[in-house]
Amino acid sequence: MKSGLEDIVAAETKLSDVDGTAGRLIIRGVSLDDLVATSRFEDVAALLLDGLFEEHSDAASIRAQLGVARVELFTHVKAADAVLLALPPVEAMRALLARIEDGENFATAIRLMAAPAVFLPALLRLQKGEKPIKPDASLSQSADILRMLTGKAPTPQQTAGLDAYLVTISDHGLNASTFASRVIASTHAGLTSSVLAAISALKGPLHGGAPGPVLDMLDAVGEPANARAWLSQALDHGERLMGFGHRIYRVRDPRADALKMALRPIFESGQADAGRIALAEAIEAAALALLKERKPDRPLETNVEYYTALLLDALGFPRNAFTGVFAIGRTVGWIAHAREQMLDGRLIRPQSRYVGPLPKAA
Ligand code: ACO
Repeated sequence: MKSGLEDIVAAETKLSDVDGTAGRLIIRGVSLDDLVATSRFEDVAALLLDGLFEEHSDAASIRAQLGVARVELFTHVKAADAVLLALPPVEAMRALLARIEDGENFATAIRLMAAPAVFLPALLRLQKGEKPIKPDASLSQSADILRMLTGKAPTPQQTAGLDAYLVTISDHGLNASTFASRVIASTHAGLTSSVLAAISALKGPLHGGAPGPVLDMLDAVGEPANARAWLSQALDHGERLMGFGHRIYRVRDPRADALKMALRPIFESGQADAGRIALAEAIEAAALALLKERKPDRPLETNVEYYTALLLDALGFPRNAFTGVFAIGRTVGWIAHAREQMLDGRLIRPQSRYVGPLPKAA
């Protein structure tokens, strides 16, 4: 038995490969750098879902179908009552998603990809006491998310920034939430059930719940000059530095670089606070130096959550919504894995080793 199933191969997949030693991510044969440079969310959805359903859909058709589904799903927002609005956004979003009928077909997949894109912006507005904004079926998923969030047409740099984020995090091997999705899919409970299980796994702070705390750390450090002393004290108290370390990557997470690149046009065009970026770079440098000194045997590098925090902040998402935005991007990966499991896999049913007491002999 290996604690945390580390190094155990539990599925064969044609979807993505995480090479932790080389710091490389391949999605369906394309390296992340190339994918981010050339794709929008709809392109990566077409790539990941290709061949997993009876219907073949290209990016243009997926874009159109998502638009129709967003408009249709907006009616579910009415179900957001006071109890639901008191929940953290990702939990409120999960509650609304649970209303979507279960199924294993492409129509269900489209609804599940469109739903978080509609629900998250609407919930964030309702939580602030504002009216939710109706989806616009003619827009791309990224442009419509930003419009429904802010009420304003996004700039091309902002739309490109969100597309880069959604593409970057669309799939990532057999991480905890994807494994959860495959376990549920292996029972043939349906895609909605798979996605709900995956969101539940994602919201934990050791998985997708870290980017909010990254910004809390930036606020607490305040000035680049304070970085080393603040981080050093946090480590003295046994705290983990949010946005650093990864189970698989032993070098820098390639997604951190992709997101840092995506952020650049936004702050170069004056749409993000340059001082904040400088602070983030100072904290990153100090954290990497300190982690090397304190944990010389464990390579700890910047992970995806670090620049996610800065990018989503610059795009206007509040920090308590970051995990929900992650879910918007990762749903397509969860669905692709769930379908792959349904088509090729068996019921997932591992063994446990009993280490408890034995019954007393009579
Ligand atoms: N800061 C300080 N120390 C750390 C950090 C960190 N961010 N990450 C790991 N360590 C230390 C641990 O304390 C441990 O030290 P020890 O052996 O002296 O006790 C050692 O490194 C190994 O840690 P593990 O928990 O065994 O490593 P694991 O592979 O299980 O953890 C994880 C990976 C959960 C991401 C971890 O690095 C962490 O907690 N990071 C901070 C949270 C974070 O950024 N999460 C987002 C991950 S990216 C994603 O899921 C999308």
